[in-house]
Amino acid sequence: MLLNTEDFRRAARSALPRFVFDYIEGHADDGHCIRRNHADLAAVELTPRVLRDTTRVDTSIEVFGQRWAAPFGIAPTGLNGLVRPGGDLILAQAAAKAGIPFCLSTASNMRLEAVRDGAADSQQWMQLYVMHREMAGQIVERAKRAGYQALVLTVDVPVSGKRELDLRNGFRMPFKPTARLAWDLVTHPTWSLRMALQGQPDFANLTPSGDALGSASLQAALLARAMDRSLVWDSLRWLRQLWDGPLLLKGVLHAADARLALAHGVDGLIVSNHGGRQNDASPSAISALPRVVDAVGGKIPVFMDSGIRRGGDIAKALSLGATAAFVGRPTLYALAAQGAPGVRSVIEVLKEDLVRNMTLLGATRIDGLRDLASDPRPQAPA
Ligand code: FNR
Repeated sequence: MLLNTEDFRRAARSALPRFVFDYIEGHADDGHCIRRNHADLAAVELTPRVLRDTTRVDTSIEVFGQRWAAPFGIAPTGLNGLVRPGGDLILAQAAAKAGIPFCLSTASNMRLEAVRDGAADSQQWMQLYVMHREMAGQIVERAKRAGYQALVLTVDVPVSGKRELDLRNGFRMPFKPTARLAWDLVTHPTWSLRMALQGQPDFANLTPSGDALGSASLQAALLARAMDRSLVWDSLRWLRQLWDGPLLLKGVLHAADARLALAHGVDGLIVSNHGGRQNDASPSAISALPRVVDAVGGKIPVFMDSGIRRGGDIAKALSLGATAAFVGRPTLYALAAQGAPGVRSVIEVLKEDLVRNMTLLGATRIDGLRDLASDPRPQAPA
């Protein structure tokens, strides 16, 4: 019985070849940051209010003028097609069905137009990595034409974190077969067969025309290239010329950066440490959240991801001032374990959990969650 995201995680572990599961699990260095994400979320207390009429609980919110059925969405993850063929679209469609947003990664395995067309009339955001400005500009133009509602610039990957699980497994881009990988494939025949029949992940967004012109390995090599490290606050002006919709920064943890974002006209922030995959010394996202919320002073929405595993975690983030939360790994576990029905059910589990938690806390609407949480802040840099 799959009752929670940990159950989906275990199911994913048996469904996937080791190198794919480890790619999802991957954390930087020693895993201090990923452990902090979970420990700090667990340590937050929510003090209930009692004797309130909770006959009806409304989880919906409004973000950038659009209604979301629940205050969480699916975070951008690259290589979803490696978890299951068509993974990007499966995630997007499950989110659309649940009335929550889906954010597509620059490193998706399907063209952004195909994902948009396959889940029209839904909330879809486009995540941007800037490896090469011209290429990034083309992705932004295409996302605009395709009807993505927001652009999410990820700012915590000037270089990839050291993911030792991937290095040990020999999993790197471009893909080079090794005896160990071959054994991994042979011992997971269902995944291997599905991939052989329907798969062939490539990085369709990275070819300028959007047609998967270049070979998969060429595109992978592009992706593996270091990011454009000359990207600075002033570069946001360049992006603004290309994109007039909501522009968010993902990976902001420092209050001073939150203030700079405001000064540069950013429309929203995602407090995130990339699920512990980047700087291992970063604070947990939940402990960084209050200082970013304070710095922003309600002028723009602040979102949060990294470590959310239960509806109760979403309640904690919202209580500490987040407009909504995002999940990365949980929906990938479900995608691996059961495909589309799995993703729909893990979303349902999170939502049901949230409704139960709100009822227990005496909150009938999202704003009723404010100020119920204990302060998770260690000493915060101002
Ligand atoms: C990610 N993440 C990520 N972020 C991003 O901006 N662009 C990307 O392409 C990816 N790719 C990616 C792949 C995988 C396998 C994972 C697990 C994560 C980070 C992601 O958006 C999000 O910040 C974290 O996953 C949130 O933490 P949890 O929910 O996984 O704990």
